[in-house]
Amino acid sequence: MNPVLCVGCTVIDFVTINDNFPEEDTDRRCLDGFWQRGGNASNVSTVLRLLGSDVDFFGMLSHAGAFRVLLDDLHRRGIDVQHCPHTEMDPPFSSVIIVKATGSRTIVHCNKNYPYVTWQDFSKIDLKRYGWIHFEARKASETIKMMRAVQEHNRMNEERIIISLDFESLFEANLPLCGLCDYVVFSKELANQQGWQTAQETCTELAHRVKPNCPSIICPWGNTGAVCLDATTQNLHNGPAYEPKQIVDTLGAGDSFMAGFIYATYALRQSLPDAVDLANRVAGHKISQFGYDHIAQLQKDNKPGNI
Ligand code: FRU
Repeated sequence: MNPVLCVGCTVIDFVTINDNFPEEDTDRRCLDGFWQRGGNASNVSTVLRLLGSDVDFFGMLSHAGAFRVLLDDLHRRGIDVQHCPHTEMDPPFSSVIIVKATGSRTIVHCNKNYPYVTWQDFSKIDLKRYGWIHFEARKASETIKMMRAVQEHNRMNEERIIISLDFESLFEANLPLCGLCDYVVFSKELANQQGWQTAQETCTELAHRVKPNCPSIICPWGNTGAVCLDATTQNLHNGPAYEPKQIVDTLGAGDSFMAGFIYATYALRQSLPDAVDLANRVAGHKISQFGYDHIAQLQKDNKPGNI
């Protein structure tokens, strides 16, 4: 099976675990903490590897010393970065506050205009190597050209590359990307910003705006599960969430959902509702512990989703 290519950002997440959410202008100690490689497409790559997929990451890497830890982690996990361009700038980072009682995560991200990969960088990649390309909805002007290149590849080749999009920011700017995809995962936070109150409403409203080239739309909605709208049948389906006994760490739950969905659809060839179910299981399992490594447990005995 051809590898998956994940296009987007990789950043350093500095995570602290706290008794409660800090008050402004106080000096306090956290209960614990750790740092890890983060960023949406970067996390999707991590979880796909843990589930057993071959993955390449395509994003801006850095020669800065602070980036070494990210590179080491990518190498250690067997995520190929051979196509990535480099900059001298320091990597982006996020300060993440996790509240112990709820597992909630609050992210303050610092990007400082870190450069994003361009269509020119992307055009050097031999796309024949891939069966699925996943994009973060970022820098729409470049991403749209990358997606068009994949579509062009699909017109000229028998083996089609499936395109997915993780849509969680800048609604108007990123909306034009949707019509170029097979699957769009749309975030609850962005839906709320649009005034859409349910996952069903989000799928229907988004489909309405993307017509006539509507992709299948998937909308995860926290503990009520996820709704998907099938592009061919126009059927809506609701998949329940899998809440663990204790919610420990919700950082990257959406990225884990995305990876679970790609894995189920691509590697396991599951139907849309089944893939959404597995994505819910992966996200539910992710939030039961800190970090991502425990997701590999789902693959024990070859029973993905065996929470
Ligand atoms: C989680 C995440 C973090 C990162 C932030 C960037 O989805 O990818 O790892 O700090 O979002 O927005």
